[in-house]
Amino acid sequence: MNDKERVLDLARRYVVPHRVEVWDAFGTQLVIGRREGYRLWDLDGKELIDLHLNGGTFNLGHRNPEVIEAMLGATAELDIGNHHFASLARAELGEDLARLTPGDLTYSVFCASGGEANDVAIKTARRATGRRTVVGLAAGFHGRTGLAGAAGENSAARYFLSESDDFVTVPFGDLDAIDAALRADDVAAVIVETVPATYGFPIVHDGYLQGIRALCDRYGALYIADEVQTGLGRSGSLWAVQRFGVEPDVLVCGKGLSGGMYPIAAAVIGARVADWLHQYGWGHVSTFGGAEIGCRVAQKVLEITTRPSVRSNVDRLTSRLGADLAALAQRQSYLTEIRQTGLIIGLRVDHPDGAVYLQQELYGLGVWAIASGFDQSILQFKPGLLMDEPTVDVVLERLELALARAKDVDRPVPKRHRLATDSPR
Ligand SMILES: Cc1ncc(COP(=O)(O)O)c(C=O)c1O
Repeated sequence: MNDKERVLDLARRYVVPHRVEVWDAFGTQLVIGRREGYRLWDLDGKELIDLHLNGGTFNLGHRNPEVIEAMLGATAELDIGNHHFASLARAELGEDLARLTPGDLTYSVFCASGGEANDVAIKTARRATGRRTVVGLAAGFHGRTGLAGAAGENSAARYFLSESDDFVTVPFGDLDAIDAALRADDVAAVIVETVPATYGFPIVHDGYLQGIRALCDRYGALYIADEVQTGLGRSGSLWAVQRFGVEPDVLVCGKGLSGGMYPIAAAVIGARVADWLHQYGWGHVSTFGGAEIGCRVAQKVLEITTRPSVRSNVDRLTSRLGADLAALAQRQSYLTEIRQTGLIIGLRVDHPDGAVYLQQELYGLGVWAIASGFDQSILQFKPGLLMDEPTVDVVLERLELALARAKDVDRPVPKRHRLATDSPR
């Protein structure tokens, strides 16, 4: 048994057997060994350019040297810390987040994951309004923890008998449906990903998010912006809500905040809805949330992400990809739609499962990008913030070849092998 076979054997026996089965079926059985910048190497030696970035966790690349330096510097004097007490690292990160987020967003509740931070956002809304109902998008994904898992698309909540009538869903892009949901019930919050990731990054039309904000104001509900995937520079603004001129009551971030090196997430809460933080200091408790080493990492991530040179690289990549992908669509008719908000990009192809075929073909050519879980005709195409032009050249060349190959594939993807479903298995 070689190293990779041994890992897979152990994973099948002791971790999540179904995941191993699915990647086997897709022919993309990756066991990541070495990783550096935007490149990954499978244990069998295969090299891949990473265009998945685990939803933006690796926005700044794998093992970014500056992030590692910040983390190692922190380990010289800190540890996780004790979440019951104030700490310098948590306090300074809180100050950074308050300064860098819009409107009256002020207080950070630190968490170990995006799902947990969405749970905190929902708890905040329920406490602030005294209401229970949460409105989400039918194709919204907010994590798989308790409240977050019941919000938006809830197939996993139903699978685990954890769904609740207190969570209602509406279709993406439909302000009337949100209006009707808010009118029908006493709603605590509307929770939305600023650009829904697992739904394939649909274009957010002018006025949509502002319309949600206005409806929340009219009916006294909170606006929760889930920026776990769209935050931290990918949209061209630090937070995607800023592009759309919206100030949420709670902004949730995670993934990239960790620099891909130390787990950390946060719910940043507006002063007007933060009463519970003045009354009940232990209303949310998370031993690892705001671990001090993670706070130092997150501060470095924010510092790098807001540098003018990084922002201009994002702008440069955004315009280049916009032009080159449009030209590619002219040559490859299988690519039917390009959805772009900065470096948040979804590519629709001409088959309901086509993004899975494209994912497979790209993998064969040395690019790892993933199909959208709730719409397998769309490939999530997520270049990193620091990606250089030669890497983009290679990615585009391989994408063209993969499109040409994928268009001839027509192999049904069994329900058991779907990354996410709209109904329990
Ligand atoms: C938009 C969004 N929100 C929340 C989450 C949950 O984050 P975590 O996996 O850290 O709980 C994810 C994870 O993919 C996400 O994409």
